[in-house]
Amino acid sequence: MTSPVLVAYASRAGSTAGVAEAVGRSLTAHGLPVEVRHVSEVQDVTQYRAVVVGSAIRIDRWLPEAMDFIQRHRADLAQRPTAAFLVCMALGLASTPQQRVQAEKSADGYMQPIRDLLHPASEGMFGGALKVSAIKEPHWRLAFSVIVGLRVWREADYRNWEAIQRPGGAGMSRVEMWALRGVLIALALYGVFLGLDFGWGGIAGLGWQGATDFLTITEAARYGVQDSHFRFLGGVFAALSVFIGVGTTDLRRYRDSLRLAFALIFIGGLARLTVGDATVLSHPDVVVALVFETVVMGALYVWVGRSARD
Ligand SMILES: Cc1cc2nc3c(=O)[nH]c(=O)nc-3n(C[C@H](O)[C@H](O)[C@H](O)COP(=O)(O)O)c2cc1C
Repeated sequence: MTSPVLVAYASRAGSTAGVAEAVGRSLTAHGLPVEVRHVSEVQDVTQYRAVVVGSAIRIDRWLPEAMDFIQRHRADLAQRPTAAFLVCMALGLASTPQQRVQAEKSADGYMQPIRDLLHPASEGMFGGALKVSAIKEPHWRLAFSVIVGLRVWREADYRNWEAIQRPGGAGMSRVEMWALRGVLIALALYGVFLGLDFGWGGIAGLGWQGATDFLTITEAARYGVQDSHFRFLGGVFAALSVFIGVGTTDLRRYRDSLRLAFALIFIGGLARLTVGDATVLSHPDVVVALVFETVVMGALYVWVGRSARD
């Protein structure tokens, strides 16, 4: 009999308990034996093959009982795969893209102390639920009835069950995030090289691609103008690639802009088809470039989208 996966949670008004149960069901559906327990019920984690730990957020922090659990079992948790999730209202309440970016930043900040202690292989950050009558502490119940009365926060259940039960949680693991960053940095460096190469070299020799010119110039003035336009396009391509590099510094924040950049390169690839000459289009160099601009850009569009899913 294989050892089970532990889903340990801390919850005050019940909504995080519901999330923990859903995470447990999703793991069970993947064929894993699972135990879902409140952190206070767990004395020993060594009997579990992996541990998922989650907490509600209160005043920008994980609940103290969840932090105690992590501190108490830190050495044993370090010996096995761990994942962490948090449940907070900030992610649920954000309705505009700007608020969403801000909320994701806050949630990222709530997760940081856990990353420092636990180095979780996977993270989930979920919108929570607020029901004033479910808050057990009288002073918080009073405070939140005022907050809701003043319409600062709303009573609502923002738990997205589809996102909660998706394998990998609401986003991607840190390993995958770094892999994506690595791919994008390589792409940005190559793009800057190509852009500078074309921009500096001009049409005739295409920069550093070889010592031989591709063209014979018959009308120098006209050529000079077209060459200048070509250099401009090379500069635009280099700048777009620099932007892709900048985007890797904060994938959540730049997600939509990065996807726009990939869409632009995809459209650029399609523009090759306007040559309408099968001999040119079937040249191995063009086929490789076209696959890169359409298939690879399409894949990156989807991959970057996964970096901050709802
Ligand atoms: C006293 C109190 C403080 C809270 N502080 C925060 C907070 O700082 N940031 C946040 O996003 N949500 C905050 N919330 C919202 C909770 O994280 C959210 O309601 C969560 O779903 C509660 O989980 P539980 O039902 O498992 O206790 C707070 C809620 C309460 C009652």
